[in-house]
Parts: sequence; structure tokens; C-alpha cells
Amino acid sequence: MKFFIDTANLGDIAEAQALGVLDGVTTNPSLMAKEGITGAENILAHYQKICDLVDGDVSAEVISTDFEGMVEEGEKLAALHPQIVVKLPLIADGIKACKYFSDKGIRTNVTLVFSAGQALLAAKAGATYVSPFIGRLDDISTDGLNLIAEIRQIYDNYAFDTQILAASVRHTMHVIDCAKLGSDVMTGPLSSIKGLLKHPLTDIGLAKFLEDYKKGNQ
Ligand code: E4P
Repeated sequence: MKFFIDTANLGDIAEAQALGVLDGVTTNPSLMAKEGITGAENILAHYQKICDLVDGDVSAEVISTDFEGMVEEGEKLAALHPQIVVKLPLIADGIKACKYFSDKGIRTNVTLVFSAGQALLAAKAGATYVSPFIGRLDDISTDGLNLIAEIRQIYDNYAFDTQILAASVRHTMHVIDCAKLGSDVMTGPLSSIKGLLKHPLTDIGLAKFLEDYKKGNQ
């Protein structure tokens, strides 16, 4: 399973990249705003900085909600850097734009997916990635992980190439469960990746090894 980090924070991206396990980055307009990145030119410059920091795919989301606007914005984003993946919302014009970009060989991430039917549409439109938001489903007492399982079954039934990018991942158990269910990618905050490191027996075991080494080498 690929690990993407879901942030526009350059420090967090650099830290995950330095760990050596990062495969890409996802952003959205809220994450950009959280970092104080506003205005089209600043946003493009920020995407460039992210691409310079990481080796993998960087999802850059369009703001337009009509087909023509999405195409114009998406083409500009895709031309910015070969690592850019155009992120499109799952609405009718988003699906049309996804098909348009797919026919042109431009990679896409269809976002704001909350049902298996929406994921089926994204795959049929040739999406590179589909982003089911598992945390936001959990937030409204609906099993987000079940959606990952449903999409996995549907995509496998028909050998769709679209990769399942489990999004709105909030914690380490989401990461582990997504891996068990066969999600192709997960995107979450730095804490969801670093949390995987933690086990008290590792810390206790290491302390003991170092203590015994010291005793033996006094
Ligand atoms: C997906 O690409 C989104 O950026 C993201 O995962 C949303 O997560 P949230 O529900 O934690 O805001």
C-alpha cells in the first residue's frame, strides 16, 4: 500500500519524506488555507515547492465546479510539474472532466467520494485514483472501511485500473485496516504514519539491549 501524506505543511511533508516511506502528497483547498496559502499564484508556487520535496504524486485540487473551468485549471496544474495529479470533485462536471483528462493521458484523483456507486462512476471515467473519505463517514456513524471493501470488490470484479486512495484517514488503525482490505493507497496526517512506529515493547526491548551492551563493555 502506498503512503501519501494529507497536508500542505512543508515541514510535515519533509519529515515524512525523510522517513523514507512516503509515496506522495494529497492537498485540498482547506489544507492550503490552513497553511495560509492563498491566491492562485501562491498556490501554484506552493505546489511547486511540494513537488521539489517529494518523489511521488502530488494531488492538486481544482476550485472550479463547471467543466470548462475544471479543464482550464486542471491543464494549468498538470503543466506545472509531471508529479501533479489533477484532483476533481465527484459531481457530474467532475466526471466529465475526469474522462477528458483520462483521454488526454493526464492523471486524475476523483475526490469527495462517499459511495460505491460514485466510485464506480469515477473508474468508468478513467480516474487514476478514487478518494473515498473514510473518516468523514465514520464521523456520521457510517462504516467508512466498509466502503473501501465494497469498492475493492467492484474494482476487482471488472479489473478496473483506478487505484483506491483511502482518504480522510485519521489514525493508525485506519491505516492498518485499509492495508488489510487491499486499499492501493492511504492518505493521512503525519501522526497516522508516525503512530505506526510506536510499541512499548520496542522501547523496553531497546533500552534493555543498550543497558546490557553497556554492562558488557565497561
Ligand atoms: C483527501 O484527499 C482529503 O484531502 C482528506 O483526506 C480529507 O480529510 P479530512 O476528512 O480529515 O478533512
